[in-house]
Amino acid sequence: MKRILVTGGLGFIGSHTVVELQNEGFEVIIIDDLSNSSIGVLERITSITGISPIHENIDLKDPIAIRSFFKKYREIDGVIHFAASKAVGESVEKPLKYYRNNISSLIYLLEEMAENHIEHLIFSSSCTVYGQADKMPITESAPFKTAESPYGNTKQIGENVINDTTKASALKAISLRYFNPIGAHKSAKIGELPVGVPQNLIPFVMQTAIGIREQLSVYGGDYPTSDGTAVRDYIHVVDLAKAHTVAMSRLLNGKNKESFEVFNIGTGKGSTVLEVINAFEEVSNQKLNYKIVDRRAGDIVEAYADTTYANNDLGWQAELSLKDGLASAWKWQQSLVE
Ligand code: WQD
Repeated sequence: MKRILVTGGLGFIGSHTVVELQNEGFEVIIIDDLSNSSIGVLERITSITGISPIHENIDLKDPIAIRSFFKKYREIDGVIHFAASKAVGESVEKPLKYYRNNISSLIYLLEEMAENHIEHLIFSSSCTVYGQADKMPITESAPFKTAESPYGNTKQIGENVINDTTKASALKAISLRYFNPIGAHKSAKIGELPVGVPQNLIPFVMQTAIGIREQLSVYGGDYPTSDGTAVRDYIHVVDLAKAHTVAMSRLLNGKNKESFEVFNIGTGKGSTVLEVINAFEEVSNQKLNYKIVDRRAGDIVEAYADTTYANNDLGWQAELSLKDGLASAWKWQQSLVE
């Protein structure tokens, strides 16, 4: 049984990926310092799969702690690295927190992986590395634009650090550039747990619909799009999780063509904010209270993935729709208040 370390494995995407790894027969060890997740997720994962992953509460900013972890757990076949700070707005206010947490931790992890001859890494990246891409749909060869935030910059730097490391060592890595992850596992036992006022659209929609928030503000109605609101590629978190098991298997089976590969993980379909709202009203059969306000600083107009390379080369395809994502997110939100 292949043994996979998942850092940030109790987080939103991490927990869904742990479930899919276990479904595929991998043994999973989680490192999560609970700074942006809750220990209750561990037993929820277990209740879904019937298998309890090992969990170690380790701060990846502490190289000594990482070293002792790898002395304790030998024979790790691969690492999926989610653990990072990811709030775009916070990263503008606290850049050093983001460079410390997202870059130093990555470097310590890579050093200990090399020390222990662990040669397979999946890196959690983001379409944010493209900024406002010039051409739609966005392919993996679209250039990095100057990052709109320190958070986005840490993803660009992270990819470069890993790429350079693969050139100088036996490391093989795949960076998955996520578009906009939404939804929850069909069991409604795991899902997105935003801390404080949600920054992202879907959690805010759900909290408005359930009555926690008064009204959704739609940031900008004057964009050059079909209905004036911005376009994103909303991908179901379960589809996204499966992309990680496919990518890890690709590396473990030596199917990678380069030592560093990048794949866009999206549906390939763009949706405007108003289309998301309309789709939600259909799946929930209730009206959403919203108003169109000024644009949000730093937002791009449009982003959706060209999924040709992921479909044909990685052999992964999104199967769930925007409505599936919204329906599962709504079921999850309703389970939170029960
Ligand atoms: C989506 C759309 C908003 C909230 C960010 C990060 C990206 C990734 C996903 C981590 C935009 C609009 C939003 C609201 C709104 N995170 N919106 N009202 O900004 O595309 O991407 O999260 O990897 O890196 O940049 O996602 O959900 O914040 O916004 O109208 O209350 O919804 O303007 O058009 P975004 P989002």
